[in-house]
Order: sequence, then C-alpha cells, then structure tokens
Amino acid sequence: MILLFGAPGYMGSAFAAELDRRGMAYEPVTRADAGPSDVRALAGLLKSRQASFVINAAGFTGRPNVDACETEKSDTILGNVVFAHVLTQACAIADIPVGHVASGCVYNGCLVREGDGWSVETDMAGTAFRRRVEHEPDGIRGFDESAEPNFSFRHPPCSFYSGSKALAEELIRDSDHAYLWRLRMPFDEHDGPRNYLGKLQRYAKLYDNFNSLSHRGDFVRAALDLCEHRAPRGIYNLTNPGFVRTSEVTAMIGDILGVDHRFEFFTDADEFYSQAAVAPRSNCILDTDKAAAAGAGMRPVRDALRAALEEWVPEASAAADSR
Ligand SMILES: NC(=O)c1ccc[n+]([C@@H]2O[C@H](COP(=O)([O-])OP(=O)(O)OC[C@H]3O[C@@H](n4cnc5c(N)ncnc54)[C@H](OP(=O)(O)O)[C@@H]3O)[C@@H](O)[C@H]2O)c1
Repeated sequence: MILLFGAPGYMGSAFAAELDRRGMAYEPVTRADAGPSDVRALAGLLKSRQASFVINAAGFTGRPNVDACETEKSDTILGNVVFAHVLTQACAIADIPVGHVASGCVYNGCLVREGDGWSVETDMAGTAFRRRVEHEPDGIRGFDESAEPNFSFRHPPCSFYSGSKALAEELIRDSDHAYLWRLRMPFDEHDGPRNYLGKLQRYAKLYDNFNSLSHRGDFVRAALDLCEHRAPRGIYNLTNPGFVRTSEVTAMIGDILGVDHRFEFFTDADEFYSQAAVAPRSNCILDTDKAAAAGAGMRPVRDALRAALEEWVPEASAAADSR
C-alpha cells in the first residue's frame, strides 16, 4: 500500500489524481493521522498500514506566500525539516522507500560560461544576463543535483522557507531510502491562487526574472516514474527542461487566453523588495539531465506552458471540477 502524506494539499492532490489515473492503490494520511513527529509512532503507522512506499507531500509553504515563513518559523521547521527527517528515519526502520517533495528554491541564479569554465550568475534580472540569453544561450546552464545549494542557511542571504528546504535536503539526501523530488513554481491548467499562471494574473505588479518551472502533472508523473523504473535514490530536479522569463509567460497568457489584462512590472529588484516582498526570493535555473537519463523526462517548459494555457480552466470551473 502506498501512503500519501499531505494528501489534501496542492501537491498531495496532484499525486492522488495521478495514482488514481494509474490504478495504484494508496491511502491518504492527514496531519492528524500522522500524529506528532515521533519516529517510533510513525514506523508503527507504516507497519500497521502495511506501507510499501511513502509519498511525502506535506510541508509548510506559508500563506499567502513564503514571507509568512519569516514569522511562522516553528511551523516551517516542523513541517519542512523535522517531519521530513523523522519520516525518513521511520521509513529506514521499516525498510520502505520514501519520496519527498523538495524544492528548487535552494538555489539562486544559474551558471554562465566564463572562458573555459562556468561561474554562478545571481543577477538574472540585469541587462547583461538578458543580453546573454539573446546572444549566447548556450553559455547558460542550470544547477545540477551535485551543486551545493547557494540559497540556504549555510549560504545566506536566503528566505527562511528556502533555508528550511535546504536543511531538510542536507538531513535526508544521504538516506538509502529517500528520493528528493525538486519542484519549482508549479503550474497547470487549473486556475487558482496556488498555480504560478494564476498567481501572475492575480498580482498587481510582477518581478521580471528567469526561472525553471514545473508542470504539476508532469512533476508527479516523473516522480512516480523514477520509482517505477527503480532509479537510484537521491535528489532529482523535476522541472520542465529550459527556462522562461516572467514577461514571456505573461505574453503567452495574453496571446492564448486573450485576457484583457495589462501586466505591470517592477522597474528593478529594489522596487520589488521595497513594495512587495519581505524575504529574499530565489530565481533559478535547474539542469534536468539526471531525471531524463533515469527515464523521467518532462516536456520542454514552453510546450508545457502552452498546453496548460490552451486547456485553461477558469477558477469557478476549476473548483467545480475538483469537487
Ligand atoms: N507549492 C509550491 O509552490 C511548492 C514549490 C516547491 C516545493 N513545494 C513543496 O511541496 C510540498 C507540498 O506543498 P504544497 O504547496 O502542496 O502545500 P499545501 O497545499 O500547503 O499542503 C501541505 C500539506 O502538508 C500538511 N502539513 C503541513 N505541516 C505539517 C506537519 N508539520 N506535519 C504533517 N503535515 C503537515 C498540510 O496539512 P494541513 O492541511 O493540516 O495544514 C497540508 O496537507 C512542501 O514540502 C513544499 O515545500 C511546494
């Protein structure tokens, strides 16, 4: 039996839908079922439910956004670090594999070619980087799974949320039992305040930057494919290959949805941070070769964005669909 922790959440519900689609039996485990973060109690729960695989889609992301994690630090550490670590230990005791929804936000920036080597570029909103995207796209690479997170408590500045996700990785990544599936700014065709494409249409003003993104359905398919293919345990970047600029995505929204919406952008990072954000934000590009080589490739990001927008379900209908 597959146990799904965090089943009611944004990512948990996507796992539930994909498990249903595959005809794979699973049991949702809510926060109340899981009880306190106690290794023996959790190992007992895994045994009593005869778990064969555990999916951890539980975690604390903050509402309305990660700025809430700056003040709700206990919940952030409990949900993202302690719970994930204790669950991994319980799975090791029970000798059951576990997959965690990790995050790409443990990085900021990307790698750019400098002479014969590569160096980290964190200013992707600047004109020099934009010029590079236009004239030398081959000179840009994402962080692969071997790269040490550079947006973490060990490498400040970072948001408290990103720090917690990097700390969880540090505690879990060497476990023989755990997959860490890195997700980044999830989107799909179901409008809503958690969907990146929905967020862009709800914010009054946007920060124009470059990022890798994850189609929610592609992500859960790739995560489960890794297990099905018995890929080695460890970290996998599960973003759609490539990267996009915020203003390119808003142009696609305008073209495909035909919405009469004038997207406004902050002039620079100073204006963004003084008006709209408390904690530093990660903007990053990830390398996806490892997942593709393990048989868990995802569609190129522009194809996934186009498909989501072409199948767009506005919020009222999206809510009715999910009932
Ligand atoms: N959404 C994103 O943009 C994003 C991006 C990258 C990574 N992630 C990661 O994806 C995972 C799921 O996020 P989500 O967006 O699906 O969040 P979500 O919609 O808020 O769902 C999170 C689920 O986790 C449960 N939970 C929270 N704290 C818990 C704790 N201490 N013990 C047990 N369960 C707990 C929640 O239970 P209650 O309903 O009882 O609170 C909820 O069911 C998290 O690890 C998050 O860091 C999300």
